[in-house]
Amino acid sequence: MNVHAAALADAHLPDEQTCAFARGAIEGLSQQPKHLSPKYFYDATGSELFEAITRLPEYYPTRTELSILRDRASDIAAFVPKGAALVEFGAGSTTKVRRLLQSCAVSAYVPVDISGEFLNAQAAGLRKDFPSLAVYPVAADFTGSFKLPEAIATMPKVGFFPGSTIGNFEPHEACRFLRSAARILGGGARMVIGVDLEKDERVLYNAYNDAAGVTSRFNLNVLVRINRELGGNFDLSAFTHRAIYNREQHRIEMHLIAKKAQTVRFLGTSFSFRPGESIHTESSYKYSIERFAALARGSGWQVCHSWTDEAKMFSVHALVAEG
Ligand code: AVJ
Repeated sequence: MNVHAAALADAHLPDEQTCAFARGAIEGLSQQPKHLSPKYFYDATGSELFEAITRLPEYYPTRTELSILRDRASDIAAFVPKGAALVEFGAGSTTKVRRLLQSCAVSAYVPVDISGEFLNAQAAGLRKDFPSLAVYPVAADFTGSFKLPEAIATMPKVGFFPGSTIGNFEPHEACRFLRSAARILGGGARMVIGVDLEKDERVLYNAYNDAAGVTSRFNLNVLVRINRELGGNFDLSAFTHRAIYNREQHRIEMHLIAKKAQTVRFLGTSFSFRPGESIHTESSYKYSIERFAALARGSGWQVCHSWTDEAKMFSVHALVAEG
């Protein structure tokens, strides 16, 4: 940092991420229906709450995906070329990638995440536990285009996108993401992707309405974040968590519902709520194996394998880029 940049940082000017959050929050809450992108959930508290969600008895996706990665380790190892560079789109906890690194002959790991600080901490842990692995973190928004490190140019590329994060995208965005991933990874690329499956609606409902109320806190945390980072005055007791399964659209929807009429302010802008009005905070799309395969095929990928657990709760797909 030069002297000038240091002085700016000292003046507590909002950083690029806070500015993007401010723009997104103002825009989403100015529209009808009101909405906020689920990417705003993940400040430090939100990331911790999400980790707590993954341990809830009702929240089956994380442990089911891990069980598939374990049970199919040898199939996955056969799919991942020797000496490949594994490029993870978004880097949360390293538990899942560790499973792949243990069983596959991977030479390099490239976690791509918007939060550089977090990335470097994760990278340090992996370098320690996998001393022969080259780790090249890339601080970038993985939904946009970014450049892969020069050092992996000649290695076969394998994308890794676990956790059914793809479920947060609208179907047209999921298509755009898959196309962009194929372009970034290049010709002959492969991809391992986790996708949550449609199932009994009560199971889905309970996974997003846990008895301990962790998902409710996770959802409300986005308002806490507006209050803290953007100087908002949301009254947390005046909003309630709601998650429903939208059968026609094959998606869980999370909402924050205003319990009464109220006006909230931040950054010089007022937002009025009718009683019962919703802020749509997340969609989590659920796929059938067939609908996901159709999406992948329509987005530049061939489906090589689709693995599931015995109860068909979750799926992991092995894709090869076309052409
Ligand atoms: C991280 C997007 C996969 O949709 O299940 C968990 C986020 N939201 N509980 C999901 C989430 C509420 C999660 N994803």
